[in-house]
Amino acid sequence: MGVFASTDDPGSTGHEQVVFCQDKQSGLKAIIGIYSTALGPALGGTRFYPYASEEDALADVLDLSRGMAYKNALAGLDLGGGKAVIWGDPEQIKSEALLRAYGRFVESLAGRYYTACDVGTYVADMDVIARETKYVTGRSVEHGGAGDSSILTAWGVFQGMRAAAEHVWGTPTLSGRRVGVAGLGKVGKYLTAHLLSDGAEVVATDVNPKALEWVRATHPQVELVDDTAALIASDVDVYAPCALGGALNDDTVPVLRAKVVAGAANNQLAHPGIEKVLADRGILYAPDYVVNAGGVIQVADEIEGFNFDRAKLRATRIYDTTREILRLADDEGVPPAVAADRLAERRMAEVGRLRTIHLR
Ligand SMILES: NC(=O)c1ccc[n+]([C@@H]2O[C@H](COP(=O)([O-])OP(=O)(O)OC[C@H]3O[C@@H](n4cnc5c(N)ncnc54)[C@H](O)[C@@H]3O)[C@@H](O)[C@H]2O)c1
Repeated sequence: MGVFASTDDPGSTGHEQVVFCQDKQSGLKAIIGIYSTALGPALGGTRFYPYASEEDALADVLDLSRGMAYKNALAGLDLGGGKAVIWGDPEQIKSEALLRAYGRFVESLAGRYYTACDVGTYVADMDVIARETKYVTGRSVEHGGAGDSSILTAWGVFQGMRAAAEHVWGTPTLSGRRVGVAGLGKVGKYLTAHLLSDGAEVVATDVNPKALEWVRATHPQVELVDDTAALIASDVDVYAPCALGGALNDDTVPVLRAKVVAGAANNQLAHPGIEKVLADRGILYAPDYVVNAGGVIQVADEIEGFNFDRAKLRATRIYDTTREILRLADDEGVPPAVAADRLAERRMAEVGRLRTIHLR
């Protein structure tokens, strides 16, 4: 995979900047990818993961940072897209020295990149990183941070689902609909509560017995099924993937009975072209990166000094953005995933261009 964009190389990625960072003593090996700063400093989390190779780590950071540029653009944020990976097993090598070394590399970018939590990094880690850099979000509440981002992620998914319901059934509510939630983790739990308050019937599944115990104790009206295969084959109106990526694939899409898919999981489309299969089956897919942007909206708010009500208001607008994307998809005769990409690219180009107006 090439990093530099060129008209001769259509496979290249077009990233602005990719930085390799190493601190031998602490064992830090990190790659920071900045896809675009057209709308502002790049924001995206740090994934701490034992990649099989440096190539895998690079491929992941390039892919994830590009995805963040699109997500942040459609979330209406004045932020570009970036992401970082730390290569290694966090259970084995995570230490104060390693995190602080990483923080110094983030600081060296002088605000071109803001970091946050991702797989393998937590709020407590952000507090350690923050001892070396100002350019960190997702901090603990005691340090003025936004705390648990799954609160507004779930709220945003619910808003996106309301917009999808309106598009398909004419009213922006899940009342009387049967919604299948796959994954009752941090986001799935909050989402289930929103759906029940809205008058939906919820059918759910999880591989973790503790999550099932929680739902039995908290929401006994939720119907539980054995696994995701049973959930998607059941008579649900809406499918909400809230576990891992790749939920929409060649095995699941042909048997899916839902009319709408809207969930929190990242990278739900297993491969390019699957969005077309969904559209051909008459299933409306609310793009994952649009509806799950509540979390990044929540942590991005820290940059202004965290205010939950302001962040919630922004996450509520995911309803309007989803509506606009679904309308554009109809108008242009393309799947919603394609319409979302077009809208994100339009905002990056139109608003990003304004920086060419010279000020002082
Ligand atoms: N937390 C956030 O703010 C946020 C923001 C954007 C996107 N997301 C995405 O949303 C998804 C859920 O995030 P989360 O924070 O709730 O994670 P989580 O780890 O708290 O929850 C995931 C849940 O899915 C369950 N699960 C795993 N494999 C399963 C399977 N095969 N079938 C059924 N259940 C399964 C797990 O047991 C767990 O309860 C992830 O894909 C995440 O990347 C989360």
